[in-house]
Amino acid sequence: MKKWVIGNWKLQGSRSFLRSYFAEFAESAQASAEKFLAGGVQLAICPPASYLSEAVSVIADLSEPWSERVLIGAQNIAEYGEGAYTGEVAADMVKDCGAAIALVGHSERRQLFGETDAQVAQKMRQAFAAELVPVLCVGESLQERESERTLLIIEQQLKQACANLSSDQWARLVIAYEPVWAIGTGLTATPEQAQEVHAFIRAQCAQMQSRSVVRVPLLYGGSVKGGNAQSLLTQVDVDGVLVGGASLKASEFAQILAASWG
Ligand code: PGA
Repeated sequence: MKKWVIGNWKLQGSRSFLRSYFAEFAESAQASAEKFLAGGVQLAICPPASYLSEAVSVIADLSEPWSERVLIGAQNIAEYGEGAYTGEVAADMVKDCGAAIALVGHSERRQLFGETDAQVAQKMRQAFAAELVPVLCVGESLQERESERTLLIIEQQLKQACANLSSDQWARLVIAYEPVWAIGTGLTATPEQAQEVHAFIRAQCAQMQSRSVVRVPLLYGGSVKGGNAQSLLTQVDVDGVLVGGASLKASEFAQILAASWG
């Protein structure tokens, strides 16, 4: 199955950063160009919403094989469609800017902006309706892990967001397991810890899918770096990585891409 490598820039970047970043990325990733062209890896970057259109046009200007093959994604979408919701950005608008994917329920949204499971479910519906690929983020806090509630929390988050998905929607979904204690902290889940939760998510997905079971790409996120990506990506149920801090360094992101071929 195709591996996914997604960069999440969070609230960082600028128009000039976009241009210099992708120029450096294309150069650093040159050794991976042939493999990338042959397929096998889906690459995406999620810049702040204000730079979505600019990112799409910068990518269109890149040399082959990167041109138009690197997907652009939103870090968040509104739970509503168009209307009187000051400050929000609708899934349709994100799509209209050329984005193909959207992170949904990132732990920073849940923790810092109080996003609930019900809102996450609503955002999933908006993403599907706009024909975006939702990257549903789930994960436990340190306290939840220490009190051995990791799997329970993950199960709740999955059930709230994925109840009643159609088989078409299952076929388009991506899930990222991001333990909250590993995000931006420098603490990474061990490959075994990641694999254990990924296998659980895989089993939960199979249970929720009524008819034919599709293999949902399961990404790991939380302090992924050039140096640890490969050991995570070689786990049987780790189909990709969602990278925050390290995705802002073009050469390190290129290193993570190279690690995705093993
Ligand atoms: P990090 O962030 O790689 O900086 O830990 C991951 C994420 O928040 O998606």
